[in-house]
Amino acid sequence: MPHNHSTRALRRALNGLYVLALLSPAAAFAKPSADSQSALIAHGDYIVHRVGMCIDCHTPKDAHGMPIASEDLHGAEIPITPDNPVPGWVNRSVKIAGLPAGYTEAQLVSFLETGHTPSGGTAHPPMPDYRLNEHDARAVAAYLHSIN
Ligand code: HEC
Repeated sequence: MPHNHSTRALRRALNGLYVLALLSPAAAFAKPSADSQSALIAHGDYIVHRVGMCIDCHTPKDAHGMPIASEDLHGAEIPITPDNPVPGWVNRSVKIAGLPAGYTEAQLVSFLETGHTPSGGTAHPPMPDYRLNEHDARAVAAYLHSIN
Protein backbone atom coordinates (compact mmCIF):
# COMPACT_ATOMS: atom_id res chain seq x y z
CA MET A 1 0.00 0.00 0.00
CA PRO A 2 2.37 2.73 -1.14
CA HIS A 3 -0.43 5.33 -1.05
CA ASN A 4 -1.34 4.72 2.62
CA HIS A 5 2.29 4.67 3.58
CA SER A 6 3.00 8.05 2.02
CA THR A 7 -0.14 9.53 3.59
CA ARG A 8 1.06 8.39 7.00
CA ALA A 9 4.51 9.77 6.32
CA LEU A 10 3.01 13.10 5.25
CA ARG A 11 0.89 13.21 8.41
CA ARG A 12 3.95 12.53 10.55
CA ALA A 13 5.86 15.28 8.80
CA LEU A 14 2.99 17.72 9.30
CA ASN A 15 2.74 16.83 13.00
CA GLY A 16 6.47 17.48 13.28
CA LEU A 17 6.04 20.89 11.67
CA TYR A 18 3.22 21.71 14.06
CA VAL A 19 5.42 20.89 17.07
CA LEU A 20 8.24 22.96 15.59
CA ALA A 21 5.88 25.92 15.20
CA LEU A 22 4.86 25.63 18.86
CA LEU A 23 8.49 25.56 19.98
CA SER A 24 9.75 28.28 17.67
CA PRO A 25 11.07 31.42 19.39
CA ALA A 26 8.70 33.61 17.38
CA ALA A 27 5.76 31.83 19.00
CA ALA A 28 7.34 31.83 22.48
CA PHE A 29 8.21 35.53 22.55
CA ALA A 30 5.23 36.98 20.74
CA LYS A 31 3.45 39.82 22.59
CA PRO A 32 2.03 38.78 25.99
CA SER A 33 -1.04 36.59 25.69
CA ALA A 34 -4.24 37.40 27.56
CA ASP A 35 -3.19 34.64 29.96
CA SER A 36 0.16 36.14 30.92
CA GLN A 37 -1.45 39.60 31.33
CA SER A 38 -4.05 38.17 33.72
CA ALA A 39 -1.29 36.32 35.62
CA LEU A 40 0.61 39.63 35.94
CA ILE A 41 -2.52 41.38 37.26
CA ALA A 42 -3.18 38.55 39.76
CA HIS A 43 0.40 38.85 41.03
CA GLY A 44 -0.08 42.62 41.45
CA ASP A 45 -3.32 42.04 43.38
CA TYR A 46 -1.38 39.69 45.71
CA ILE A 47 1.40 42.24 46.34
CA VAL A 48 -1.03 45.13 46.91
CA HIS A 49 -3.33 43.23 49.31
CA ARG A 50 -1.02 40.74 51.00
CA VAL A 51 2.65 41.79 50.78
CA GLY A 52 3.07 45.55 50.29
CA MET A 53 -0.10 46.11 52.33
CA CYS A 54 -0.98 49.22 50.32
CA ILE A 55 -4.49 48.72 51.71
CA ASP A 56 -3.31 49.56 55.27
CA CYS A 57 -2.90 53.19 54.25
CA HIS A 58 -4.75 53.60 50.94
CA THR A 59 -8.12 51.96 51.80
CA PRO A 60 -10.59 53.71 54.13
CA LYS A 61 -11.74 51.68 57.17
CA ASP A 62 -15.23 51.38 58.65
CA ALA A 63 -16.11 51.99 62.33
CA HIS A 64 -14.78 48.51 63.20
CA GLY A 65 -11.46 49.15 61.48
CA MET A 66 -12.36 46.87 58.56
CA PRO A 67 -11.39 47.97 55.03
CA ILE A 68 -14.36 49.29 53.02
CA ALA A 69 -14.37 47.05 49.93
CA SER A 70 -16.27 49.48 47.71
CA GLU A 71 -13.59 52.14 48.35
CA ASP A 72 -10.58 49.85 48.02
CA LEU A 73 -7.40 51.89 47.35
CA HIS A 74 -9.36 55.17 47.00
CA GLY A 75 -7.09 57.03 49.44
CA ALA A 76 -7.60 57.29 53.21
CA GLU A 77 -6.81 59.05 56.47
CA ILE A 78 -3.57 57.76 57.98
CA PRO A 79 -4.70 56.39 61.35
CA ILE A 80 -1.33 56.81 63.11
CA THR A 81 0.92 59.70 64.13
CA PRO A 82 4.64 59.46 64.96
CA ASP A 83 5.74 59.82 68.61
CA ASN A 84 8.40 62.26 67.48
CA PRO A 85 7.86 64.78 64.69
CA VAL A 86 8.79 63.42 61.23
CA PRO A 87 9.54 66.09 58.60
CA GLY A 88 7.02 66.06 55.77
CA TRP A 89 4.62 63.62 57.47
CA VAL A 90 1.19 63.70 55.81
CA ASN A 91 -2.01 62.36 57.33
CA ARG A 92 -3.75 61.40 54.09
CA SER A 93 -2.89 58.97 51.31
CA VAL A 94 -3.94 59.40 47.69
CA LYS A 95 -6.23 57.34 45.44
CA ILE A 96 -4.15 54.72 43.64
CA ALA A 97 -6.98 52.59 42.19
CA GLY A 98 -7.00 53.13 38.42
CA LEU A 99 -3.47 54.69 38.66
CA PRO A 100 -2.60 57.67 40.92
CA ALA A 101 -3.30 61.14 39.46
CA GLY A 102 -0.49 62.33 37.22
CA TYR A 103 1.01 58.88 36.65
CA THR A 104 1.17 56.75 33.53
CA GLU A 105 1.54 53.02 34.09
CA ALA A 106 5.24 53.25 33.09
CA GLN A 107 5.84 56.13 35.54
CA LEU A 108 4.27 54.10 38.33
CA VAL A 109 6.57 51.16 37.52
CA SER A 110 9.56 53.49 37.74
CA PHE A 111 8.33 55.04 41.03
CA LEU A 112 7.93 51.61 42.65
CA GLU A 113 11.43 50.60 41.49
CA THR A 114 13.27 53.80 42.45
CA GLY A 115 11.12 55.85 44.86
CA HIS A 116 11.31 58.80 42.43
CA THR A 117 8.01 60.45 41.47
CA PRO A 118 7.44 61.58 37.85
CA SER A 119 8.47 65.13 38.84
CA GLY A 120 11.76 63.82 40.23
CA GLY A 121 10.83 64.15 43.90
CA THR A 122 9.97 61.58 46.55
CA ALA A 123 6.68 60.80 48.29
CA HIS A 124 6.10 62.10 51.82
CA PRO A 125 6.21 59.78 54.83
CA PRO A 126 4.67 57.48 55.84
CA MET A 127 4.59 56.35 52.18
CA PRO A 128 7.27 53.63 52.17
CA ASP A 129 10.26 54.07 49.87
CA TYR A 130 9.76 50.86 47.91
CA ARG A 131 12.42 49.25 45.72
CA LEU A 132 10.38 46.58 43.94
CA ASN A 133 12.03 44.50 41.25
CA GLU A 134 10.86 45.17 37.70
CA HIS A 135 8.47 42.22 37.52
CA ASP A 136 6.75 43.08 40.81
CA ALA A 137 6.56 46.79 39.92
CA ARG A 138 4.99 45.97 36.54
CA ALA A 139 2.53 43.64 38.26
CA VAL A 140 1.41 46.27 40.81
CA ALA A 141 1.05 48.95 38.10
CA ALA A 142 -0.91 46.59 35.80
CA TYR A 143 -3.20 45.61 38.68
CA LEU A 144 -3.85 49.21 39.80
CA HIS A 145 -4.51 50.20 36.17
CA SER A 146 -7.06 47.39 35.86
CA ILE A 147 -9.29 48.54 38.76
CA ASN A 148 -11.23 51.73 39.59
C1 HEC B 1 2.32 53.23 55.70
C2 HEC B 1 1.31 53.81 54.82
C3 HEC B 1 1.38 53.52 53.34
C4 HEC B 1 1.54 52.31 52.70
C5 HEC B 1 1.71 50.95 53.32
C6 HEC B 1 1.51 52.59 51.29
N1 HEC B 1 1.33 53.93 51.06
FE1 HEC B 1 1.33 54.84 49.24
N2 HEC B 1 1.10 56.64 50.16
C7 HEC B 1 0.96 56.85 51.53
C8 HEC B 1 0.80 58.26 51.77
C9 HEC B 1 0.62 58.92 53.14
C10 HEC B 1 0.87 58.90 50.52
C11 HEC B 1 0.82 60.40 50.23
C12 HEC B 1 2.24 60.88 50.16
C13 HEC B 1 2.36 62.29 49.69
O1 HEC B 1 1.39 63.02 49.76
O2 HEC B 1 3.49 62.66 49.26
C14 HEC B 1 1.08 57.86 49.54
C15 HEC B 1 1.25 58.10 48.19
C16 HEC B 1 1.40 57.12 47.23
C17 HEC B 1 1.61 57.39 45.84
C18 HEC B 1 1.76 58.78 45.20
C19 HEC B 1 3.21 59.25 45.44
C20 HEC B 1 3.44 60.69 44.98
O3 HEC B 1 3.64 61.55 45.85
O4 HEC B 1 3.44 60.94 43.75
C21 HEC B 1 1.65 56.18 45.21
C22 HEC B 1 1.87 55.93 43.73
C23 HEC B 1 1.49 55.16 46.22
N3 HEC B 1 1.36 55.78 47.44
C24 HEC B 1 1.46 53.82 45.97
C25 HEC B 1 1.48 52.85 46.98
C26 HEC B 1 1.52 51.44 46.71
C27 HEC B 1 1.48 50.80 45.32
C28 HEC B 1 1.60 50.82 47.92
C29 HEC B 1 1.74 49.34 48.20
C30 HEC B 1 2.75 48.60 47.43
C31 HEC B 1 1.57 51.85 48.93
N4 HEC B 1 1.48 53.06 48.33
C32 HEC B 1 1.62 51.62 50.30
C33 HEC B 1 0.98 55.88 52.51
C34 HEC B 1 1.23 54.53 52.29
